[in-house]
Amino acid sequence: MNYRHSFHAGNFADLVKHALVLWLLERRQASGPVTVIDTHAGAGVYDLSGEGARSKEAEAGVARLMAAADRPPTIEALAREVARLNPHGGANLYPGSPLLIADRLGAADRYLGFELNPPVLELLQQALEPFAHATARGGDGYDQARAEAAHVQGAFVLIDPPFERPDDYLRAADTGAAIVRADPRAMVVIWTPLKDMETFDGFLRRLDQAGVKRVLVAEARLRPLTNPMKMNGCAVVVLNPPAGAETAAAEVCGWVADRLGEAGARAEVWMTGAGPA
Ligand SMILES: C[S@@+](CC[C@H](N)C(=O)[O-])C[C@H]1O[C@@H](n2cnc3c(N)ncnc32)[C@H](O)[C@@H]1O
Repeated sequence: MNYRHSFHAGNFADLVKHALVLWLLERRQASGPVTVIDTHAGAGVYDLSGEGARSKEAEAGVARLMAAADRPPTIEALAREVARLNPHGGANLYPGSPLLIADRLGAADRYLGFELNPPVLELLQQALEPFAHATARGGDGYDQARAEAAHVQGAFVLIDPPFERPDDYLRAADTGAAIVRADPRAMVVIWTPLKDMETFDGFLRRLDQAGVKRVLVAEARLRPLTNPMKMNGCAVVVLNPPAGAETAAAEVCGWVADRLGEAGARAEVWMTGAGPA
């Protein structure tokens, strides 16, 4: 297991994922208490100044987010969380999904994060210590998420694998599909990189074959997908998206592509069955 999210924390892909997770969580909380299950939780918080110079990815991501003057509401919500974590200014600390979510839990809400890598699990447990309703557990997040979601109604599940294993696409699709098939009130949010379209289309086909028909696809492409060896963009795929999610996703992906992308960058946001607009 080589993946270290600390090298990527605060990059454009984290911004897309986290801005959308915050919006989706708020919508889900409006309809009652929620249990959030985070299959691949990571460390919870990242010190961007920790390993020498701040990574180029964070410079091109969160540093530009915090310097931007024109942040639409979905993006502003994330910028406020970063600012809260850095009361003296700047963006040396960046919140991961566990911290962003735990910070917003109400008295009847719960967060459960899984992390396979023991040293990262230890960091996660420390980061979640102040939050009474948040728990970190070791082990494989896919299998445990399925088991946990079966005990709650309308779970909010985040599946955010490193995609360093060839079966991550299959397992992400199959886990998400199994959860919404078992409980149509559950919402599943899956993050994927965008390298080439064949891989991503195969992932969407797998969801379709598994019987998942209401899927929001939100893509932020930083450049045309001509070099499949590069992460050219990212996508957030939402199974059972709430009303308004398409508009929120267009705001998030549009801002990231526009402000952080290269020539040819663009956002594509669509519901499966309809194809890109
Ligand atoms: C992309 S990072 C997670 C980032 C986090 N969700 C966030 O938004 O802040 C992926 C994490 O998953 C962990 N991991 C890898 N395979 C796993 C598995 N099968 N179950 C649980 N965690 C896993 C890695 O150690 C890594 O910390």
